[in-house]
Amino acid sequence: MTGWNTLKRTGFAALFTAAAVSPGLAANAGHGEELALQWCSACHLVSNDQNKVSVASVPSFFDIARRPGFNEDALKTFLADPHPQMPNMTLSNGEIADIARYISSLSE
Ligand code: HEC
Repeated sequence: MTGWNTLKRTGFAALFTAAAVSPGLAANAGHGEELALQWCSACHLVSNDQNKVSVASVPSFFDIARRPGFNEDALKTFLADPHPQMPNMTLSNGEIADIARYISSLSE
């Protein structure tokens, strides 16, 4: 049966689902932190929540964010083409935006 109530329910459910899975509309720093902990923390100090020891010679994300001239867009460009030492990870544009927003938030 497809009464108004059913339509409303399924319609709203679809809306919420779309919002939950669509990346990139608004970069999400919280998600960026999860990604950074997952992908970057083997080498970089990425978060105060990190319990692994990072490689001392690699710049921490705090250092990167506080550099004069730090720029979130430049960081996104950099991440689209991973640095040689980075494992070959395939980050989507949405994930890159989230990580860039997260790193950006560390300068505050
Ligand atoms: C296997 C180790 C490794 C991993 C994993 C790694 N990096 Fe790096 N990263 C490095 C090293 C080493 C450097 C410094 C040398 C260089 O720039 O290539 C670096 C440099 C950087 C820089 C540039 C710093 C500068 O000097 O401008 C950024 C930004 C960066 N990493 C982001 C990330 C992000 C984001 C991730 C996770 C998605 C990540 N890295 C994962 C090793 C790693």
